[in-house]
Amino acid sequence: MKKKILSIVGARPQFVKAAGLSKNLRHRFREILVHTGQHYDYEMSQAFFDGLNIPKPDYNLNVGSSSHAEQTAKIMTGLESIVIKEKPDAILVYGDTNSTLAGALVASKLGIPLVHVEAGLRSFDKSMPEEVNRVVTDHIASISLCPNETSLTNLEKEGVKKDVYVVGNLMQEVLMNYLDAAKKLQTSLFTKYDIKRGEYIFATIHRQSNTDKKVMLANIIESLICVNEKIIWPLHPRTEKQLRKFGLMTRVKTAANIIILPPVNYLESIALQEGAKSIVTDSGGVQGEAFWLGVPCITLRTSTEWPETVRSGANTLVDPARKDIAKKLNNIKPTKKRKAIIPKTSHKITKILSELF
Ligand code: UD1
Repeated sequence: MKKKILSIVGARPQFVKAAGLSKNLRHRFREILVHTGQHYDYEMSQAFFDGLNIPKPDYNLNVGSSSHAEQTAKIMTGLESIVIKEKPDAILVYGDTNSTLAGALVASKLGIPLVHVEAGLRSFDKSMPEEVNRVVTDHIASISLCPNETSLTNLEKEGVKKDVYVVGNLMQEVLMNYLDAAKKLQTSLFTKYDIKRGEYIFATIHRQSNTDKKVMLANIIESLICVNEKIIWPLHPRTEKQLRKFGLMTRVKTAANIIILPPVNYLESIALQEGAKSIVTDSGGVQGEAFWLGVPCITLRTSTEWPETVRSGANTLVDPARKDIAKKLNNIKPTKKRKAIIPKTSHKITKILSELF
């Protein structure tokens, strides 16, 4: 009989990672997929399941939005009874969200081995909720699956040495597998938004530190308005909510160079990123995508969990409080296109887990 793995997803980047792993994992394991409901709007959730053929979740906890403590606690409570009922041989979590942390804690309390995909990443900034989620999850995990050597070294320095493996990057594998399909959408997207290849900037902003204070969000907007190119900006619901709360939405809507959109699906996001002159973001995943696509990126943060993108020159960290963000974007240099390598991460993960369970 196949061993049982209970995988937990809840937020957008985790759906993308599950799209890369689930199918492969199911060759060797019986996977029970739990959606926590952390992201719940159609564009933030179901659009990814439909577009990336992710298996339908066996359970949806529908926890929705609330404070970090409440959201994490609701996921833990909902998950506990499912785990007790399903008795999985292992629990698998991805990345660094509240869904990851809650899954890790439940696994630990119930004594079930925990597999952490994307282990060992560090921004070394504990004011980020994601950093705390990563550190706690990494210290609970029984099996740590690292995307690169840097993350393996980070874990070693913290004394996490047992069952640590470098497996490559699942986001990169999914990106490369869907790139051709994404490129097919470009002509219609460029027509729809009246933009030209290489002549616009793709923007994503949602980080709590950039959206929760009016002064910070206003500075980012005023900077984007001063950029020479058109800016295509799909709005994360958190950002939209904050723009309205701070009375900044009209300023954005009336800016001549900013085109705001509802959240785009995965293929549209890749299509728009690949065709852009540059990218401005505060997302972890988008920094990686920009790097693999060879599109220069400015990250509006003072730290990153992907330091190799900065070392390569493809990604520049810019303090979002600075007044010269527009200047940096206007002067951005092209970066070299990278060879399309498809890491066989999903295959490696499945193989490692089959040997361990
Ligand atoms: C979460 C992750 C972050 C990840 C991001 C990807 C944590 C701590 N953060 O941040 O690491 O990069 O997802 O998007 O887990 N909302 C909606 N509809 C939705 C989802 C969210 O309206 O479908 C709104 C709610 O008002 C909510 C806010 O967005 O309060 C924030 O959502 P939440 O899931 O708590 O965090 P994210 O900012 O999305």
